[in-house]
Amino acid sequence: MPPSALADKLDALVERLSKVAQDVRAGVVSLETDTPRRMGVAQVGTELINTVTLPEDQIHLFLPQLVHLTAVRVFIEWNGFDAIPQEDGATISYADLAAKIGGDPSLITRIARTLVANNTLKQVQTDHVAHTAYSRLLATPPHRAVLKLEFDDYLASFLSLPRYFARFGLRDPTDRLQTPLAFAQDRLGASAWDIWNSDPERLAGFMMTMTVMEAWAPARNPYDFGWVAQHPAAAKDGAERVLLVDVGGGRGHALGRILRENPGIEGRRCVLEDLKEVVGEVERERGEGLEGVRLVGMDFHAEQPVKNALVYHIRRCLHDYSDDESVAILRRLADAMAPDSRLLIVELIISDPPSAYQAALDLTMMVISGKERTLATWRDIVARAGLKITHVDVVEGGSGVVECMLGD
Ligand SMILES: C[S@@+](CC[C@H](N)C(=O)[O-])C[C@H]1O[C@@H](n2cnc3c(N)ncnc32)[C@H](O)[C@@H]1O
Repeated sequence: MPPSALADKLDALVERLSKVAQDVRAGVVSLETDTPRRMGVAQVGTELINTVTLPEDQIHLFLPQLVHLTAVRVFIEWNGFDAIPQEDGATISYADLAAKIGGDPSLITRIARTLVANNTLKQVQTDHVAHTAYSRLLATPPHRAVLKLEFDDYLASFLSLPRYFARFGLRDPTDRLQTPLAFAQDRLGASAWDIWNSDPERLAGFMMTMTVMEAWAPARNPYDFGWVAQHPAAAKDGAERVLLVDVGGGRGHALGRILRENPGIEGRRCVLEDLKEVVGEVERERGEGLEGVRLVGMDFHAEQPVKNALVYHIRRCLHDYSDDESVAILRRLADAMAPDSRLLIVELIISDPPSAYQAALDLTMMVISGKERTLATWRDIVARAGLKITHVDVVEGGSGVVECMLGD
């Protein structure tokens, strides 16, 4: 790149950062609470790397990232992050750390130094190590669960993709029983949920990752549920029509939030549906806002057990499936809907082309034969299920709500 063009690009990045700094100083933005904005600013760092590096540099930039991730995963396995004292300013020598973990000091020091080199741990003097805010997080079970899922399931599946495509052909994985995830684990014939739910520790880990994702990027659901409480069906004297069914609702954090934010919708008129193992977990420990909500174990590939509800809500489920399977799930819902029922599909609506993060989510879904979709693709599958789109809301970062009714 000619020097003047490079200087212009650097100036443009500085200008973007100055604007953010001004907004932060003026209190107009809080990067701490606004995840999409924060990630947008962090993207400037990636753009800086792309601007200043030569193409031949870029191929070498992957390696430290792969090694860093691997060191984190290995350290989690050894409970290494728990072996470092938690108190502010406390340190531990590499030798004591090795003794606590029960490993050879040379190996433990090498892995810990890799974490230091990547700012995950902090070295103090020459032979001691201390926590950073990030490594403290990695000592908590939910964040450990995220890393384990990403490494053991997703990365292992990515590693198998060249062999997977050589065997199944160069086409999108679409069969939920023939996923790259199952292929990588030698469990073809089992769906991702069969795999995750067959092991209580993995199921608990998976549920924890959902909670972490929710806390990190709370789905800002822009949909206005106000009309539901106003609808004649919601009258307190209580016709028995179900107001809201959360299909594949997991632990019910989305439903719980909707009910907390809309006190006019009575919990006892709502249903939380999921696989029976998951519903069993919710029965043992009901989340906030779910008082009175009916819990139903079901399979959304089969007939929808609750008919004629005012609203069906399906969030972050369809991206786990191919277009054909998503159409089949939507048809099951359409079969249960009344002419005035609304179906809310709450999912990412990716841009075209997607951001790097959206693309990462899309390929993560690919390993379980799912996909992230653009609005055009959502339009297509909704129409194939005999539904029509009546409203779309999208917020920054791409979280969206597609409202549908039965087609004409
Ligand atoms: C990615 S999670 C989304 C959970 C929740 N809706 C949310 O937004 O956090 C997908 C959910 O679909 C559920 N699920 C998977 N297969 C299902 C099936 N065949 N029938 C019903 N629920 C299913 C899973 O147990 C899980 O809770």
